[in-house]
This record gives sequence, structure tokens and C-alpha cells, in this order.
Amino acid sequence: MRVVVLISGRGSNMEALLRAGLPVEFAAVISNKAEAKGLAVARELGVETAVVNHKDYPSREAYDAKLAEVIDGYGADLVCLAGFMRILSDGFVNRYAGRMINIHPSLLPAFTGLDTHARAIAAGVKLHGCTVHYVTPELDAGPIVVQAAVPVLEDDTPDSLGARVLEQEHRIYPLAVRWIAEGRVELSADGRARVRSNAPAANALISPAG
Ligand code: GAR
Repeated sequence: MRVVVLISGRGSNMEALLRAGLPVEFAAVISNKAEAKGLAVARELGVETAVVNHKDYPSREAYDAKLAEVIDGYGADLVCLAGFMRILSDGFVNRYAGRMINIHPSLLPAFTGLDTHARAIAAGVKLHGCTVHYVTPELDAGPIVVQAAVPVLEDDTPDSLGARVLEQEHRIYPLAVRWIAEGRVELSADGRARVRSNAPAANALISPAG
């Protein structure tokens, strides 16, 4: 399976994917920003990189058409959004229906959009986390493949909570790609992703613990 990863910045999730020893071929890492730190990391890890700068295109549709051309040039079977901070046109999303996944820093459907850690703290939730999901035209709403939950602690700041979540992002994104590569993820007509699992279900995570 040929995988293309799209980033906009740091690229720590991309790095987690590239270093996970997955049974896939990383064909390229593409960024909409030339200064994205993750590009150098990808090159160090021997993965080809490309920049498709959104500022060079007059409209979202024009940008997305070029981006799709570049992605398809790498023969991508799976597109992984890893901190790719752009709203994608419906045409682009539909072109990669069932072949494009995203990692989002919340337990969806809670806290779609931005500033998820600050909003989780403000809401007073006791569990927060991250989600890998298929991308559909509705923002942060596609079929969920895997989620990880972490406790929200009394003295958490968005940064401390975000760091705890990020650690789990780096675990679940490679897991999701592995399962897809192994053919264990099935998209059903009811809009859900079913994962064939061999492992026993995880125990409950209760927060605060007592
Ligand atoms: C990650 O926390 C990812 O979940 C988030 O951006 C960060 C990128 O970090 N994505 C979104 O908020 C998408 N809506 P990274 O570049 O180090 O992987």
C-alpha cells in the first residue's frame, strides 16, 4: 500500500508513522508550507517530499486540484492527514472517499475544529483524547477507526493536556494505518468503520480514579 502523508507544520504524527515499521510504502510527504519542520524530518528518514503552496493558487478548488494531481502522481492508495491545517473542498474529499484518514486531537464528536484542549478544560470534561477517522465532507465527522482517552487533571493547562494527548496520537495513528494496510478495517453502509480486532477490549478508564 502506497501512503502519502500531508502536513502543515511540526510533523510529529508524520514522524510517528514513518518510524513505526508499518507494512506500507511511504511514497511522499507533502506540505502546503515550505517552512514545515516535518519536511526535513521526512527527508532524513528517506521519504520524498513536495510542497504545494496554497498561496500560489487563486481558489480552494484550484489548490485542491493541484494537490490531487501531485498526490495521484505518487500513486497513493491511502492519504494520511497529519496536522494538515486546511479545509478541503468537497470535490477533493470525495475523490479520496474511503482512502483518506485524519488524526484529530479530541474524542470526536466532541470538540471538532481548533483549540480542542482549551475547550475540553473549559467544559470540565474528565476524559479527553484523540481520534483517527476517515475524512468526509463534514468537518471532523467521518467514520471513526480508533480513539485513545486520557484523563484531564485538575491543574492541566492546554499545553500539559495537549502533550498527554499527543503521546497517544503517536500510538493510535500508526495503529490505524497498520489495520487498514492489513485489511482489517471495513467501512459499512451505515457510515461506521468496523475494525476486526483480535485483542480483548480495553478496560474502562475512569477519571478521576477515586
Ligand atoms: C496534532 O495534534 C493533530 O492532532 C492536530 O494538529 C497537530 C499536528 O501536530 N490536528 C488537527 O488539529 C486537525 N484538525 P504534528 O504536526 O506534530 O503532527
